[in-house]
Formats: sequence, C-alpha cells, structure tokens
Amino acid sequence: MEREWNYYIQFHLHLLLIVCYSFVPVESLNEEGAFLLEFKKSFVDPSNNLQRCNSLDSTPCNWSGIGCADNVRVSSINLKAFNLSGNLSSCVCKLPYLTELNVSTNFISGHIPSDLGHCHNLEVLDLCTNRFHGELPTQLFEMAFLRKLSLCENFVYGEIPEEIGNLTLLEELVIYSNNLTGMIPSSLSPIPAEISKCGRLEVLGLAQNRLEGSFPIELQRLRNLTDLVLLQNLLSCEIPPEIGNFSSLEVPALHDNTFIGSIPKEIEKLTQLKRLYLYTNQLNGTTPRELGSCLSTIQIDLSENQLSGFVPKELCKIPNLQLLQLFENLLQGRSLLVEFSELHNLSALELYQNRFSGPIPPELGQLGI
Ligand SMILES: *[C@@H]1O[C@H](CO)[C@@H](O)[C@H](O)[C@H]1NC(C)=O
Ligand SMILES: *[C@@H]1O[C@H](CO)[C@@H](O)[C@H](O)[C@H]1NC(C)=O
Ligand SMILES: *[C@@H]1O[C@H](CO)[C@@H](O)[C@H](O)[C@H]1NC(C)=O
Ligand SMILES: *[C@@H]1O[C@H](CO)[C@@H](O)[C@H](O)[C@H]1NC(C)=O
Ligand SMILES: *[C@@H]1O[C@H](CO)[C@@H](O)[C@H](O)[C@H]1NC(C)=O
Ligand SMILES: *[C@@H]1O[C@H](CO)[C@@H](O)[C@H](O)[C@H]1NC(C)=O
Ligand SMILES: *[C@@H]1O[C@H](CO)[C@@H](O)[C@H](O)[C@H]1NC(C)=O
Ligand SMILES: *[C@@H]1O[C@H](CO)[C@@H](O)[C@H](O)[C@H]1NC(C)=O
Ligand SMILES: *[C@@H]1O[C@H](CO)[C@@H](O)[C@H](O)[C@H]1NC(C)=O
Ligand SMILES: *[C@@H]1O[C@H](CO)[C@@H](O)[C@H](O)[C@H]1NC(C)=O
Repeated sequence: MEREWNYYIQFHLHLLLIVCYSFVPVESLNEEGAFLLEFKKSFVDPSNNLQRCNSLDSTPCNWSGIGCADNVRVSSINLKAFNLSGNLSSCVCKLPYLTELNVSTNFISGHIPSDLGHCHNLEVLDLCTNRFHGELPTQLFEMAFLRKLSLCENFVYGEIPEEIGNLTLLEELVIYSNNLTGMIPSSLSPIPAEISKCGRLEVLGLAQNRLEGSFPIELQRLRNLTDLVLLQNLLSCEIPPEIGNFSSLEVPALHDNTFIGSIPKEIEKLTQLKRLYLYTNQLNGTTPRELGSCLSTIQIDLSENQLSGFVPKELCKIPNLQLLQLFENLLQGRSLLVEFSELHNLSALELYQNRFSGPIPPELGQLGI
C-alpha cells in the first residue's frame, strides 16, 4: 500500500517537474494543486482570501473554497463572495474530477471563456453576480453533465443559443438580470420524437432581460418545471390556456411584461400553484373564479392590470393564502373584506385604486395591515 502511494507521489512529482516547474515553486504539491495555483493567477485578490493556497501543502484539499473527493481529487471550487476581480481562467478545466465551479458574487470581468466547455465533468456552474460581459459562448453547452447553470446578474447580451438544448440533464437555468434578447429557445423543451432535450428542467429563470415573443407554450412538455420566472422582459401576448398544462408549476412569475387578454380559467389545473405573480401587465377581463381551486396557493398578486368585474368569493376559500394584491385594477362590487378576514394567515391585502363600493368593515383591523 505504502509502496503504491510512493509510486503515486513520484509519478506526480515527475509530471509536475515537467509540466509545472515554470510557474510553481513546487516542493510536494500535487498536480491538481499546481493547476489551481495557475487558475488563481488570473484573479486579483485584494482581500487575500486565496492566501491559504500554499505550494508547500501536498494537496490543495485544505485550501479555502476547495472541496475534494477521497481527500485528493479536487471536485468542487466555491469562491462565492471572495472579493475577487480579474478574469476567469479556463485552465480550471485541467482538473479532471471537477464537478462544481461557483465563483458567484465577485467582481470578475471579461468574457465567459469559451474554453470552459472543456470542463467536461462539470455539473454545477455558477457565475452569478459578477461583471462578465459579451455573448454566451455556445461551447458552454458542450458540458453534457451540467445540472445547474447560473449566470444571473452579469452583462451578458445576445440570444440564448439553440445549443442549450444539448444540456439534457439541466435542472436549473438561471440567467436573470442580463441583456439577453430574442426569443426563448424552443430547444429548451423536449419534442416527443427527440427526447434528448432539457426534459429535467425544474427552474427556468430568465427574468430581467429583453426577451420578446409570445408565451413559451412548448415548455409545457417540461413535466418537472416548478419555477417559470420571466418577469421584466418584453413578452407581449395572451397567457394561453395551455398554462394549465404546466403540471408541476408552483411559481409562474410573469409580472412586469406586457401580457394582454384575460387570465385563463385553465389555471385551475395548476394543483401545485404556490405563488401567482401576474402584476404590472395589461391583463383585462375578470378574475377567474377557478383560481379558488388552487388550494395550495399562498400568494396571489394581480395588481396593476385592467381586471374588471367582481372579486370571486372562491378566493376566500384558499386556506393558506398569505398575500392577495389586487390594487390598481378596475374591480367593482363588494370588496369581500369580511370573508377575507377569516383567512388567518392573510397578512397582506391591498385593494386600493379600484371601484369597490361599501364601507370598510372593522374586521379589516384584524388582518394586521
Ligand atoms: C471584501 O472587501 C470589503 C471592502 O474592502 C471588505 O469590507 C470585506 O470584508 C471583504 N470581504 C471578504 C470576504 O474578503
Ligand atoms: C487543514 O487546516 C487545518 C487548519 O485550518 C489544520 O488543522 C489541518 O491539519 C489541515 N489539514 C491538512 C491535511 O493539511
Ligand atoms: C483579463 O483579460 C484582459 C483581456 O481579455 C486583459 O487585458 C487583462 O489583463 C486580464 N486581467 C487579468 C487580471 O488577467
Ligand atoms: C454557489 O455557492 C453559494 C454559497 O455556497 C450557494 O448559495 C449557491 O447555491 C451556489 N450556487 C449553485 C448554483 O449551486
Ligand atoms: C449539440 O449536439 C449536436 C448533436 O448531438 C452536436 O452536433 C453539436 O455539436 C452539439 N453542440 C454543442 C455546442 O454542444
Ligand atoms: C443593457 O443594455 C443597455 C443598453 O445597451 C445598457 O444601458 C444596460 O446597462 C445594460 N444592462 C446590463 C445588465 O447589461
Ligand atoms: C422529474 O422528477 C422526478 C422526481 O424528482 C424524477 O423521478 C423524474 O426522473 C424527473 N423527470 C425527468 C424527465 O427528469
Ligand atoms: C393543453 O391545454 C389545452 C388547452 O387547455 C388542451 O386543449 C390540450 O389538450 C392540452 N395539451 C396537452 C398536451 O396536454
Ligand atoms: C381585453 O383587451 C383586448 C386587447 O388587448 C381586447 O381585444 C379585449 O376586447 C379586451 N377585453 C375586455 C373584456 O376588456
Ligand atoms: C398558517 O400558517 C402556519 C405556518 O406558517 C400553518 O401551520 C397553519 O396551518 C396556517 N393556518 C391556516 C389557517 O392555514
């Protein structure tokens, strides 16, 4: 056993001397450690958060942010909020066992390196909240094992490449707050004949971009999609009845777009619905009474639209409702405040700027608003 170990070290030392002598004052650091020192070089580290990366250690497994499998193989790098600036180096892809790279919440700039596509075993990539700019390199979608891809809060622009459909294991795609344009790629949703698409997607976060076009009906084929977050884009169209086919949907966050037409009654088919955010659109028509069938709902925000007619009393039967925002619409009739006051968990109810009649009942005081 010990002999094997010695061979192992010697082998790696040998490699190191050949490969790495030019940039690392190596004593005993293994190859993966040397790659990490190289990776570190492209960062600027004013807070010295990477100081522990010491070339005298035998492995980098004790360095801050580094996680290892079997105490030797670097499997994760998490440098979230390390105050790093400078660039991201794709030499990190030389780490053969790396499955997670998370450098979120730093000041890293430059393009997203297209060579990151060489990180073939990567399952989680989080570059959120940095200063990356430029377009999304299609090579990113060569990382066939990616489960989570988060690029939110950067300065990425251009269209989302159709190649994203190559990420067949993707569960979370989070790219909010960038400058993406164009349509939501149809390749995201599996077509029956072609199951090699992102069928596992659970979270699709594309908020705060400049995406346009109509409601992505094809995404109904994503049977596990729970969060559809498209707020603050330029989507303009009706919310189609097919929204009822999004069988796992819990959070449709569609607010701050220019959706028109009425809220489809098929919304009642969303048995998992938890938060319905349709505010600040141009929806008209009445509030569908069928919404009252979505019994697991805890928040409903339909404010700042042009909804008219009565508030359906069925909404008062949603047992765990915590928030109901209907302000700035054209609603009329009785405001149902008495009925709502029986919902003990309701802590936010705003109805102002509508056309309600009748006095404000004393029960209102019990809502804690
Ligand atoms: C990041 O830099 C700020 C300002 O220099 C400092 O207050 C903060 O402690 C640093 N955080 C870390 C994790 O180094
Ligand atoms: C890792 O660092 C801790 C202190 O942070 C130290 O106690 C421990 O001995 C180190 N382990 C290795 C294998 O270097
Ligand atoms: C980052 O990359 C740019 C060019 O892409 C280069 O000018 C700059 O020096 C790099 N910064 C660091 C810290 O390597
Ligand atoms: C990145 O790391 C932070 C801090 O550990 C964590 O909260 C976040 O979920 C990670 N990102 C991904 C995509 O797992
Ligand atoms: C996507 O998959 C197709 C077909 O499998 C392949 O030809 C193409 O090179 C892949 N593109 C990327 C960016 O991975
Ligand atoms: C998006 O583009 C606009 C105009 O080109 C620019 O003013 C804005 O700062 C950009 N925002 C981001 C997050 O890149
Ligand atoms: C959906 O999620 C379930 C439970 O987590 C899982 O068993 C199933 O494989 C997922 N479906 C797809 C298409 O990934
Ligand atoms: C989707 O919804 C529409 C309208 O509600 C319905 O006619 C259609 O059969 C549904 N399609 C699937 C595939 O479930
Ligand atoms: C809702 O608005 C659309 C146009 O956006 C209009 O065609 C339709 O008649 C309106 N419906 C109601 C009930 O006001
Ligand atoms: C209110 O919420 C609590 C948890 O926050 C839950 O245990 C309770 O069942 C809810 N009450 C009603 C009436 O839904």
